[in-house]
Amino acid sequence: MPDFEQPTILMCPPDFFGIEYEINPWMDRTKPSDHATATAQWNALRDILISIGADVRLMEPVPGLPDLVFTANAGLVWKETIYLSSFRHAARQGETPVDDAWFQAAGFATKSLPVPHNFEGAGDALFCGDTLYAGYLIRSDASAMHWLAADMGCRVIPLQLTDTRFYHLDTCFCPLDPTSAIYFPGAFDSYAQQTLKQIPRLIPVVEAEAARFACNAVVVGQHVVMNSGCPQLEADLASHGFIPHATPLDEFLKSGGSAKCLTLRLDGEDAAVW
Ligand code: ARG
Repeated sequence: MPDFEQPTILMCPPDFFGIEYEINPWMDRTKPSDHATATAQWNALRDILISIGADVRLMEPVPGLPDLVFTANAGLVWKETIYLSSFRHAARQGETPVDDAWFQAAGFATKSLPVPHNFEGAGDALFCGDTLYAGYLIRSDASAMHWLAADMGCRVIPLQLTDTRFYHLDTCFCPLDPTSAIYFPGAFDSYAQQTLKQIPRLIPVVEAEAARFACNAVVVGQHVVMNSGCPQLEADLASHGFIPHATPLDEFLKSGGSAKCLTLRLDGEDAAVW
C-alpha cells in the first residue's frame, strides 16, 4: 500500500515527447515541438513543484509513446487504487500497460474499466469535495463515469464538453479546494454550466486565457501552477488568497497539454474529500 508523507506527483520526462499524430485541434505535425525547449520547460515545471513542497516521482519515458509525458491520463487515483485509462485513440493505447506496471510496482491496486467504455483518467475525472466531476463526449464516455462512480460509491456529475479545443475536462475546469474551482464556461453545454454553479466559489476564466490552458493548473495547497500568459487568472487567484506561479509551457500546448496534464497527484488532490 503506498504511503505518502507530502504532496506527491507523478511526472514523465519528455525524452520522447513530440507531435507525431493529430488527435486534437492543437496538434499539427507540421508544427513540431523543440526538444531542448520542451525539456527546459518540463524541468522548470518540476522544479517549481518541488519548491512548493511536492515530492515528484518519475515514470521512465518510452520511445514511440510521445504522450506518455501527460501522466494525468494514466488513470484516476482513488485511495490505493488507480482506475487505468482506456484511451479513445489507438495512438495512445500503448501507454496503458506501461502505466499499469508503474502503479503495480508503486503498490497501487490497478483496475480497468470493462470494455467498451473509453476513459482518459484525471484528464476527464476530477474530484471537488466528495463529488466526481466528469467530462464526457470528446474522449471519455458518460457510461464510463457512471461505472466508476458506482464502483467507488461516490456522487458523479457528468459534464458534456462541447468545444473540441477543450477536449479533456482538465483543459477547462480545475478544482482548487473542496468548495472552489476555476472554469471556462464556453467549453460546456448549458446544462453543465448550470450544474457547475453548485460549487460555492466558481471563478471564470476569459477565453483568451483558457486558450492558453489557464485552467490546466496544478494545485498544491494554496499554490497554483500554470502556463505563463494568463495575467487575469493570476490576479483573480491572488485576490482569492491563492499563490499563482506561471511558467512557460508552450511546447506542450502544441500537443494540447499544459501544467496539469503533465502531472498526476498520487496522494489525492487537495480539492478531493474521499
Ligand atoms: N496530445 C495529448 C492528447 O491529445 C495531450 C493530452 C493532454 N492531457 C490532458 N490531461 N488534458 O491526448
